[in-house]
Amino acid sequence: MKKSKRRVRPRAIFCLIAISIFIIAAVWLLFDKLIFVNEAPIITLKADVIIIDEGTSFHAEQYITSVEDFNGNALSLSKQEHKKGTYWISGNVDINKQGVYRVIVYALDHKDNQAEKILTVTVENKKTSSPVSKPNTVDKSENKGNEEQKPSNIDSGGYDSSIDPNDCEPYYVNGILLVNKLHPLPPSYGELDDEAAQALEKLQTAANNAGYSIPTLSAYRSYDYQGTLYNNYVALDGQEAADTYSARPGFSEHQSGLAFDVGELSYDYGETEAGKWLHQHCHEYGFIIRYPRDKEKITGYVYEPWHIRYVGKSTAKKIYQKGVTLEEYLGVN
Ligand code: DAL
Ligand code: ZN
Repeated sequence: MKKSKRRVRPRAIFCLIAISIFIIAAVWLLFDKLIFVNEAPIITLKADVIIIDEGTSFHAEQYITSVEDFNGNALSLSKQEHKKGTYWISGNVDINKQGVYRVIVYALDHKDNQAEKILTVTVENKKTSSPVSKPNTVDKSENKGNEEQKPSNIDSGGYDSSIDPNDCEPYYVNGILLVNKLHPLPPSYGELDDEAAQALEKLQTAANNAGYSIPTLSAYRSYDYQGTLYNNYVALDGQEAADTYSARPGFSEHQSGLAFDVGELSYDYGETEAGKWLHQHCHEYGFIIRYPRDKEKITGYVYEPWHIRYVGKSTAKKIYQKGVTLEEYLGVN
């Protein structure tokens, strides 16, 4: 009996150790699967769908806001695929050939968690692409002979009833975000844009140095806040009038964080010395007067000498020199 006991004990110990290792491994794998399965990196794009003109440059990086692991650590862009702690871009866009292309952004964190996001890029030929319906702010008498061109779903405020901010994507044309009566932003979109805010500070400093004060009156406005403003104006003036100067929620450029009201909320502001300075110099800091005089039919809004929009210096200069609206510059409605 004593002899057999001596033989059994090491085997039992071995079995116990093996079972313990097996249980620990199983628990570890289960824990890893249950706890870490959802810790995929987070890829944030500026838009999921963009349109560019044939022949213009395209860099997918321009449309990536951030790529981070689950803990918020930035992953770096890599030319090499499947490298831990990085993200990489796959898919080609032939800028010289019209078509719809898919670019995929992949991310892989240090724990091997992977994520991907698709950017759909449409390369269009400006001359042959079908025009997007235009805001109908033409008064009824002017529009009479032109009824067949008016899309039936455009309401009296210039909005297309089939376009819903809850079911839309930010609309970029050649890397520039366009927000107007046909191109809204989703309710969750938006915050003050740092680059635009810094450019505004420079503009205001330059104005001060020139002897003018150009205070900020309104900057980023959330979807809900814009809704409150718009409803107040409707209650005050009626919807038809409100639609000529106030955007419905989701359709305001202020929600983009790139637009500011500055100076004075007065239609004569453009005639004041400070207003003139703003109009002549804002492009040097990357801004345009977004709703110029006599362009209501294109922009959808009456002249607003106080509303400036950040588009970057080079674009702002071109728009200023051509004397066009953002819609005209981009060649879309
Ligand atoms: N006043 C401009 C159009 C806005 O409400 O965004
Ligand atoms: Zn404004």
